[in-house]
Amino acid sequence: MNFNLRIYQQELAKLATVYKLKSIDLHIFDIIPSTNQKIWSLIDLENPLPIAVISLQQTAGKGQWGRTWQSSLGGLYLSVAINLDLALDYSFHLTMTTSWGIANILRIYNIPVSLKWPNDLILKNRKLGGIKIETHTSNKKIKYAVIGVGINWVNSVPELAINLQSYFQKNQQQSITCLEQLTAITISGILSGYQHYLEIGSQQMLANYNKLLTSIGQKVTVNNCPGIVTGVTDKGELKVRLQSSGASTEISLSLGQISLGYLNQ
Ligand code: BTN
Repeated sequence: MNFNLRIYQQELAKLATVYKLKSIDLHIFDIIPSTNQKIWSLIDLENPLPIAVISLQQTAGKGQWGRTWQSSLGGLYLSVAINLDLALDYSFHLTMTTSWGIANILRIYNIPVSLKWPNDLILKNRKLGGIKIETHTSNKKIKYAVIGVGINWVNSVPELAINLQSYFQKNQQQSITCLEQLTAITISGILSGYQHYLEIGSQQMLANYNKLLTSIGQKVTVNNCPGIVTGVTDKGELKVRLQSSGASTEISLSLGQISLGYLNQ
């Protein structure tokens, strides 16, 4: 398997015109430990941002919560580094903007991707991909960020996951035809998502993000008390309405306090 740079460039050029994107250098590897790790070393070499790195395989892909992201041939393993100037308190804005940007652009390609809080990409109630963001901060501001994205393309996946190829086969449509195109689309989703956030502001972006959340309406239990997820706050906390003996209160929970499962098929 190899990566055809020309196909990628043609696809990106089309999208860059539509979304008015900055130019971005792509560094391509066959096999490396992690694209996130690699891009940090490129930032250290003072490459102008944004830059992107993909690898056809990773031997130590970084997942959320210190997990390893299985990265066999056939998946998209991409990192994009961008400059920004975002208060550390609002680091969630980058999470919502990135996940919304990717889900939104895939929906334009007729792939009904939604989001599981905080940033899993979901298709048909299964995990299509994940996002791992790392940041560099100075004076309580995020100055640049590495946005790592794994999307299941034709790679084999665990039970609760799905790849795009099997979705296309079941639905008899193939709106994205190769990994090069998926790479260009995902990069465009990340960059245009952040651009859109700067244009419309955080409240409107939060509303967009909440609309794509599968978690809304999900039943949860908090300290033995039944509740329903009602949304996500601007700081990225999950809002849950607790119901007990006629009374109802709304609480906000941070990531360490609750984790959501996948919805039933
Ligand atoms: C998750 O656990 O849901 C997030 C997974 C993110 C994996 C991607 S693959 C490309 C990039 N490089 C890494 O080392 N991790 C991210």
